[in-house]
Amino acid sequence: MPGTCVVGLQWGDEAKGKIVDLLGDGFDLVVRYNGGANAGHTVVVNGVSFKLSLLPTGVIRPDVQSVIGNGVVVYPPRFLEEVDQLAKGGIDVAGSLFLSDHAHVIFPYHMEEERLLESSAEGKLGTTGRGIGPCYQDKVGRRFAIRVGELLRPDHLRERLKFVVPFKNKLMTALGGGAPKTFDPDAIAAEYLGYAERIRPFVRDTPRFLHDALAANKRLIFEAAQGSLLDVDHGTYPYVTSSSSLPSGIWGGSGVPAKYVKRIIGVVKAYTSRVGQGPFPTELDNELGERIRKIGREYGTVTGRPRRVGWLDSVAVRYTAALSGADEITVMLLDVLSGIPELKICTAYELDGDRTTYFPSDAYLLERVKPVYETLPGWNDDITAARKLSDLPAAARRYLDRVTELVGLRASVVSVGPDREQTIMV
Ligand code: IMP
Repeated sequence: MPGTCVVGLQWGDEAKGKIVDLLGDGFDLVVRYNGGANAGHTVVVNGVSFKLSLLPTGVIRPDVQSVIGNGVVVYPPRFLEEVDQLAKGGIDVAGSLFLSDHAHVIFPYHMEEERLLESSAEGKLGTTGRGIGPCYQDKVGRRFAIRVGELLRPDHLRERLKFVVPFKNKLMTALGGGAPKTFDPDAIAAEYLGYAERIRPFVRDTPRFLHDALAANKRLIFEAAQGSLLDVDHGTYPYVTSSSSLPSGIWGGSGVPAKYVKRIIGVVKAYTSRVGQGPFPTELDNELGERIRKIGREYGTVTGRPRRVGWLDSVAVRYTAALSGADEITVMLLDVLSGIPELKICTAYELDGDRTTYFPSDAYLLERVKPVYETLPGWNDDITAARKLSDLPAAARRYLDRVTELVGLRASVVSVGPDREQTIMV
């Protein structure tokens, strides 16, 4: 069984890191194939906590090699900061972390472009401000993109930036009006050549590296960043991220063909959360929502923004389970729902007078749907000490049964707290 993918089936922040952690020693290599430092996860090792955005969560495991694939966009200072953070905590990733020479590089002008676009009401998508969208735009536009491998060729990099930066300055002027921030190609080259020397030992032809790993029957785990509903093709466009966050991104974003991915674990929060703009049919914009946000600590890891929260939406999860090819689901943060007298699950939508159980992913359609709910009894008991399904109150078991029935997949894990031990392996 060479490849497993752990993918979120909602709008991100489903606690995928905990599932990777629970897979334990079951893999040799962990691979990221999409996104960049817009993701965020806190991992705790021996009481020391690390905040990672760019490196995969699996990087903390001894004897595991990590790959940042070609589909990822990399901000070099962030990469180095995370490597240093781990080193300070006693985790040396030199020799076990590899960065694709084809991954694309984020520059300060990408972040400035995003800042200017996000500051207009019409252009606002509620992004994380990490330069992700503008960098991917350059990637597919081809003319202005710079890949990690190019950082390692100083003369070439200086020349490239002399071509790219004046164009970006014109763009900033057009977007910013007044007195825009402009950039100096020589200064950026000097800064990035400094990063390049530190990054050089990590850089590899990662598809080749991964093909060798497959030939050696190594076990791979793919960490999807963000969530399926933020996928650039199948998510709630245009309120999505700029990469393929579904398992479909693996092939392109790492060079590992789909046939090697044998197990797809869909991670589902027992309710729903979303950061940034965009439609959210089951949103609870009220006191109950505030309570779930507090108990679930629903504040963005990257930006600190309060996350929007709402009821579980089985229409959305059935859609993403189908798109991702999930074999099973894991239900996370069930404990957050304790003490709520009645729980709702969205089972269908009303759209323009018709009832549908299929998810309309276009934002303009999704904005118009009205959720149809089923109400289930809640439970009062603290469930954080439950270790088997039979430890759960009957109402919690009934809630889980209904979720799995509506999604159409079995739950292999139920999480009842943030710690590794606070888990029910089904
Ligand atoms: P971007 O990826 O920074 O361009 O942001 C696009 C949208 O995706 C925004 O709504 C972000 O809040 C959201 N987003 C990006 N990364 C994550 C994540 O890791 N978790 C949850 N939402 C995310």
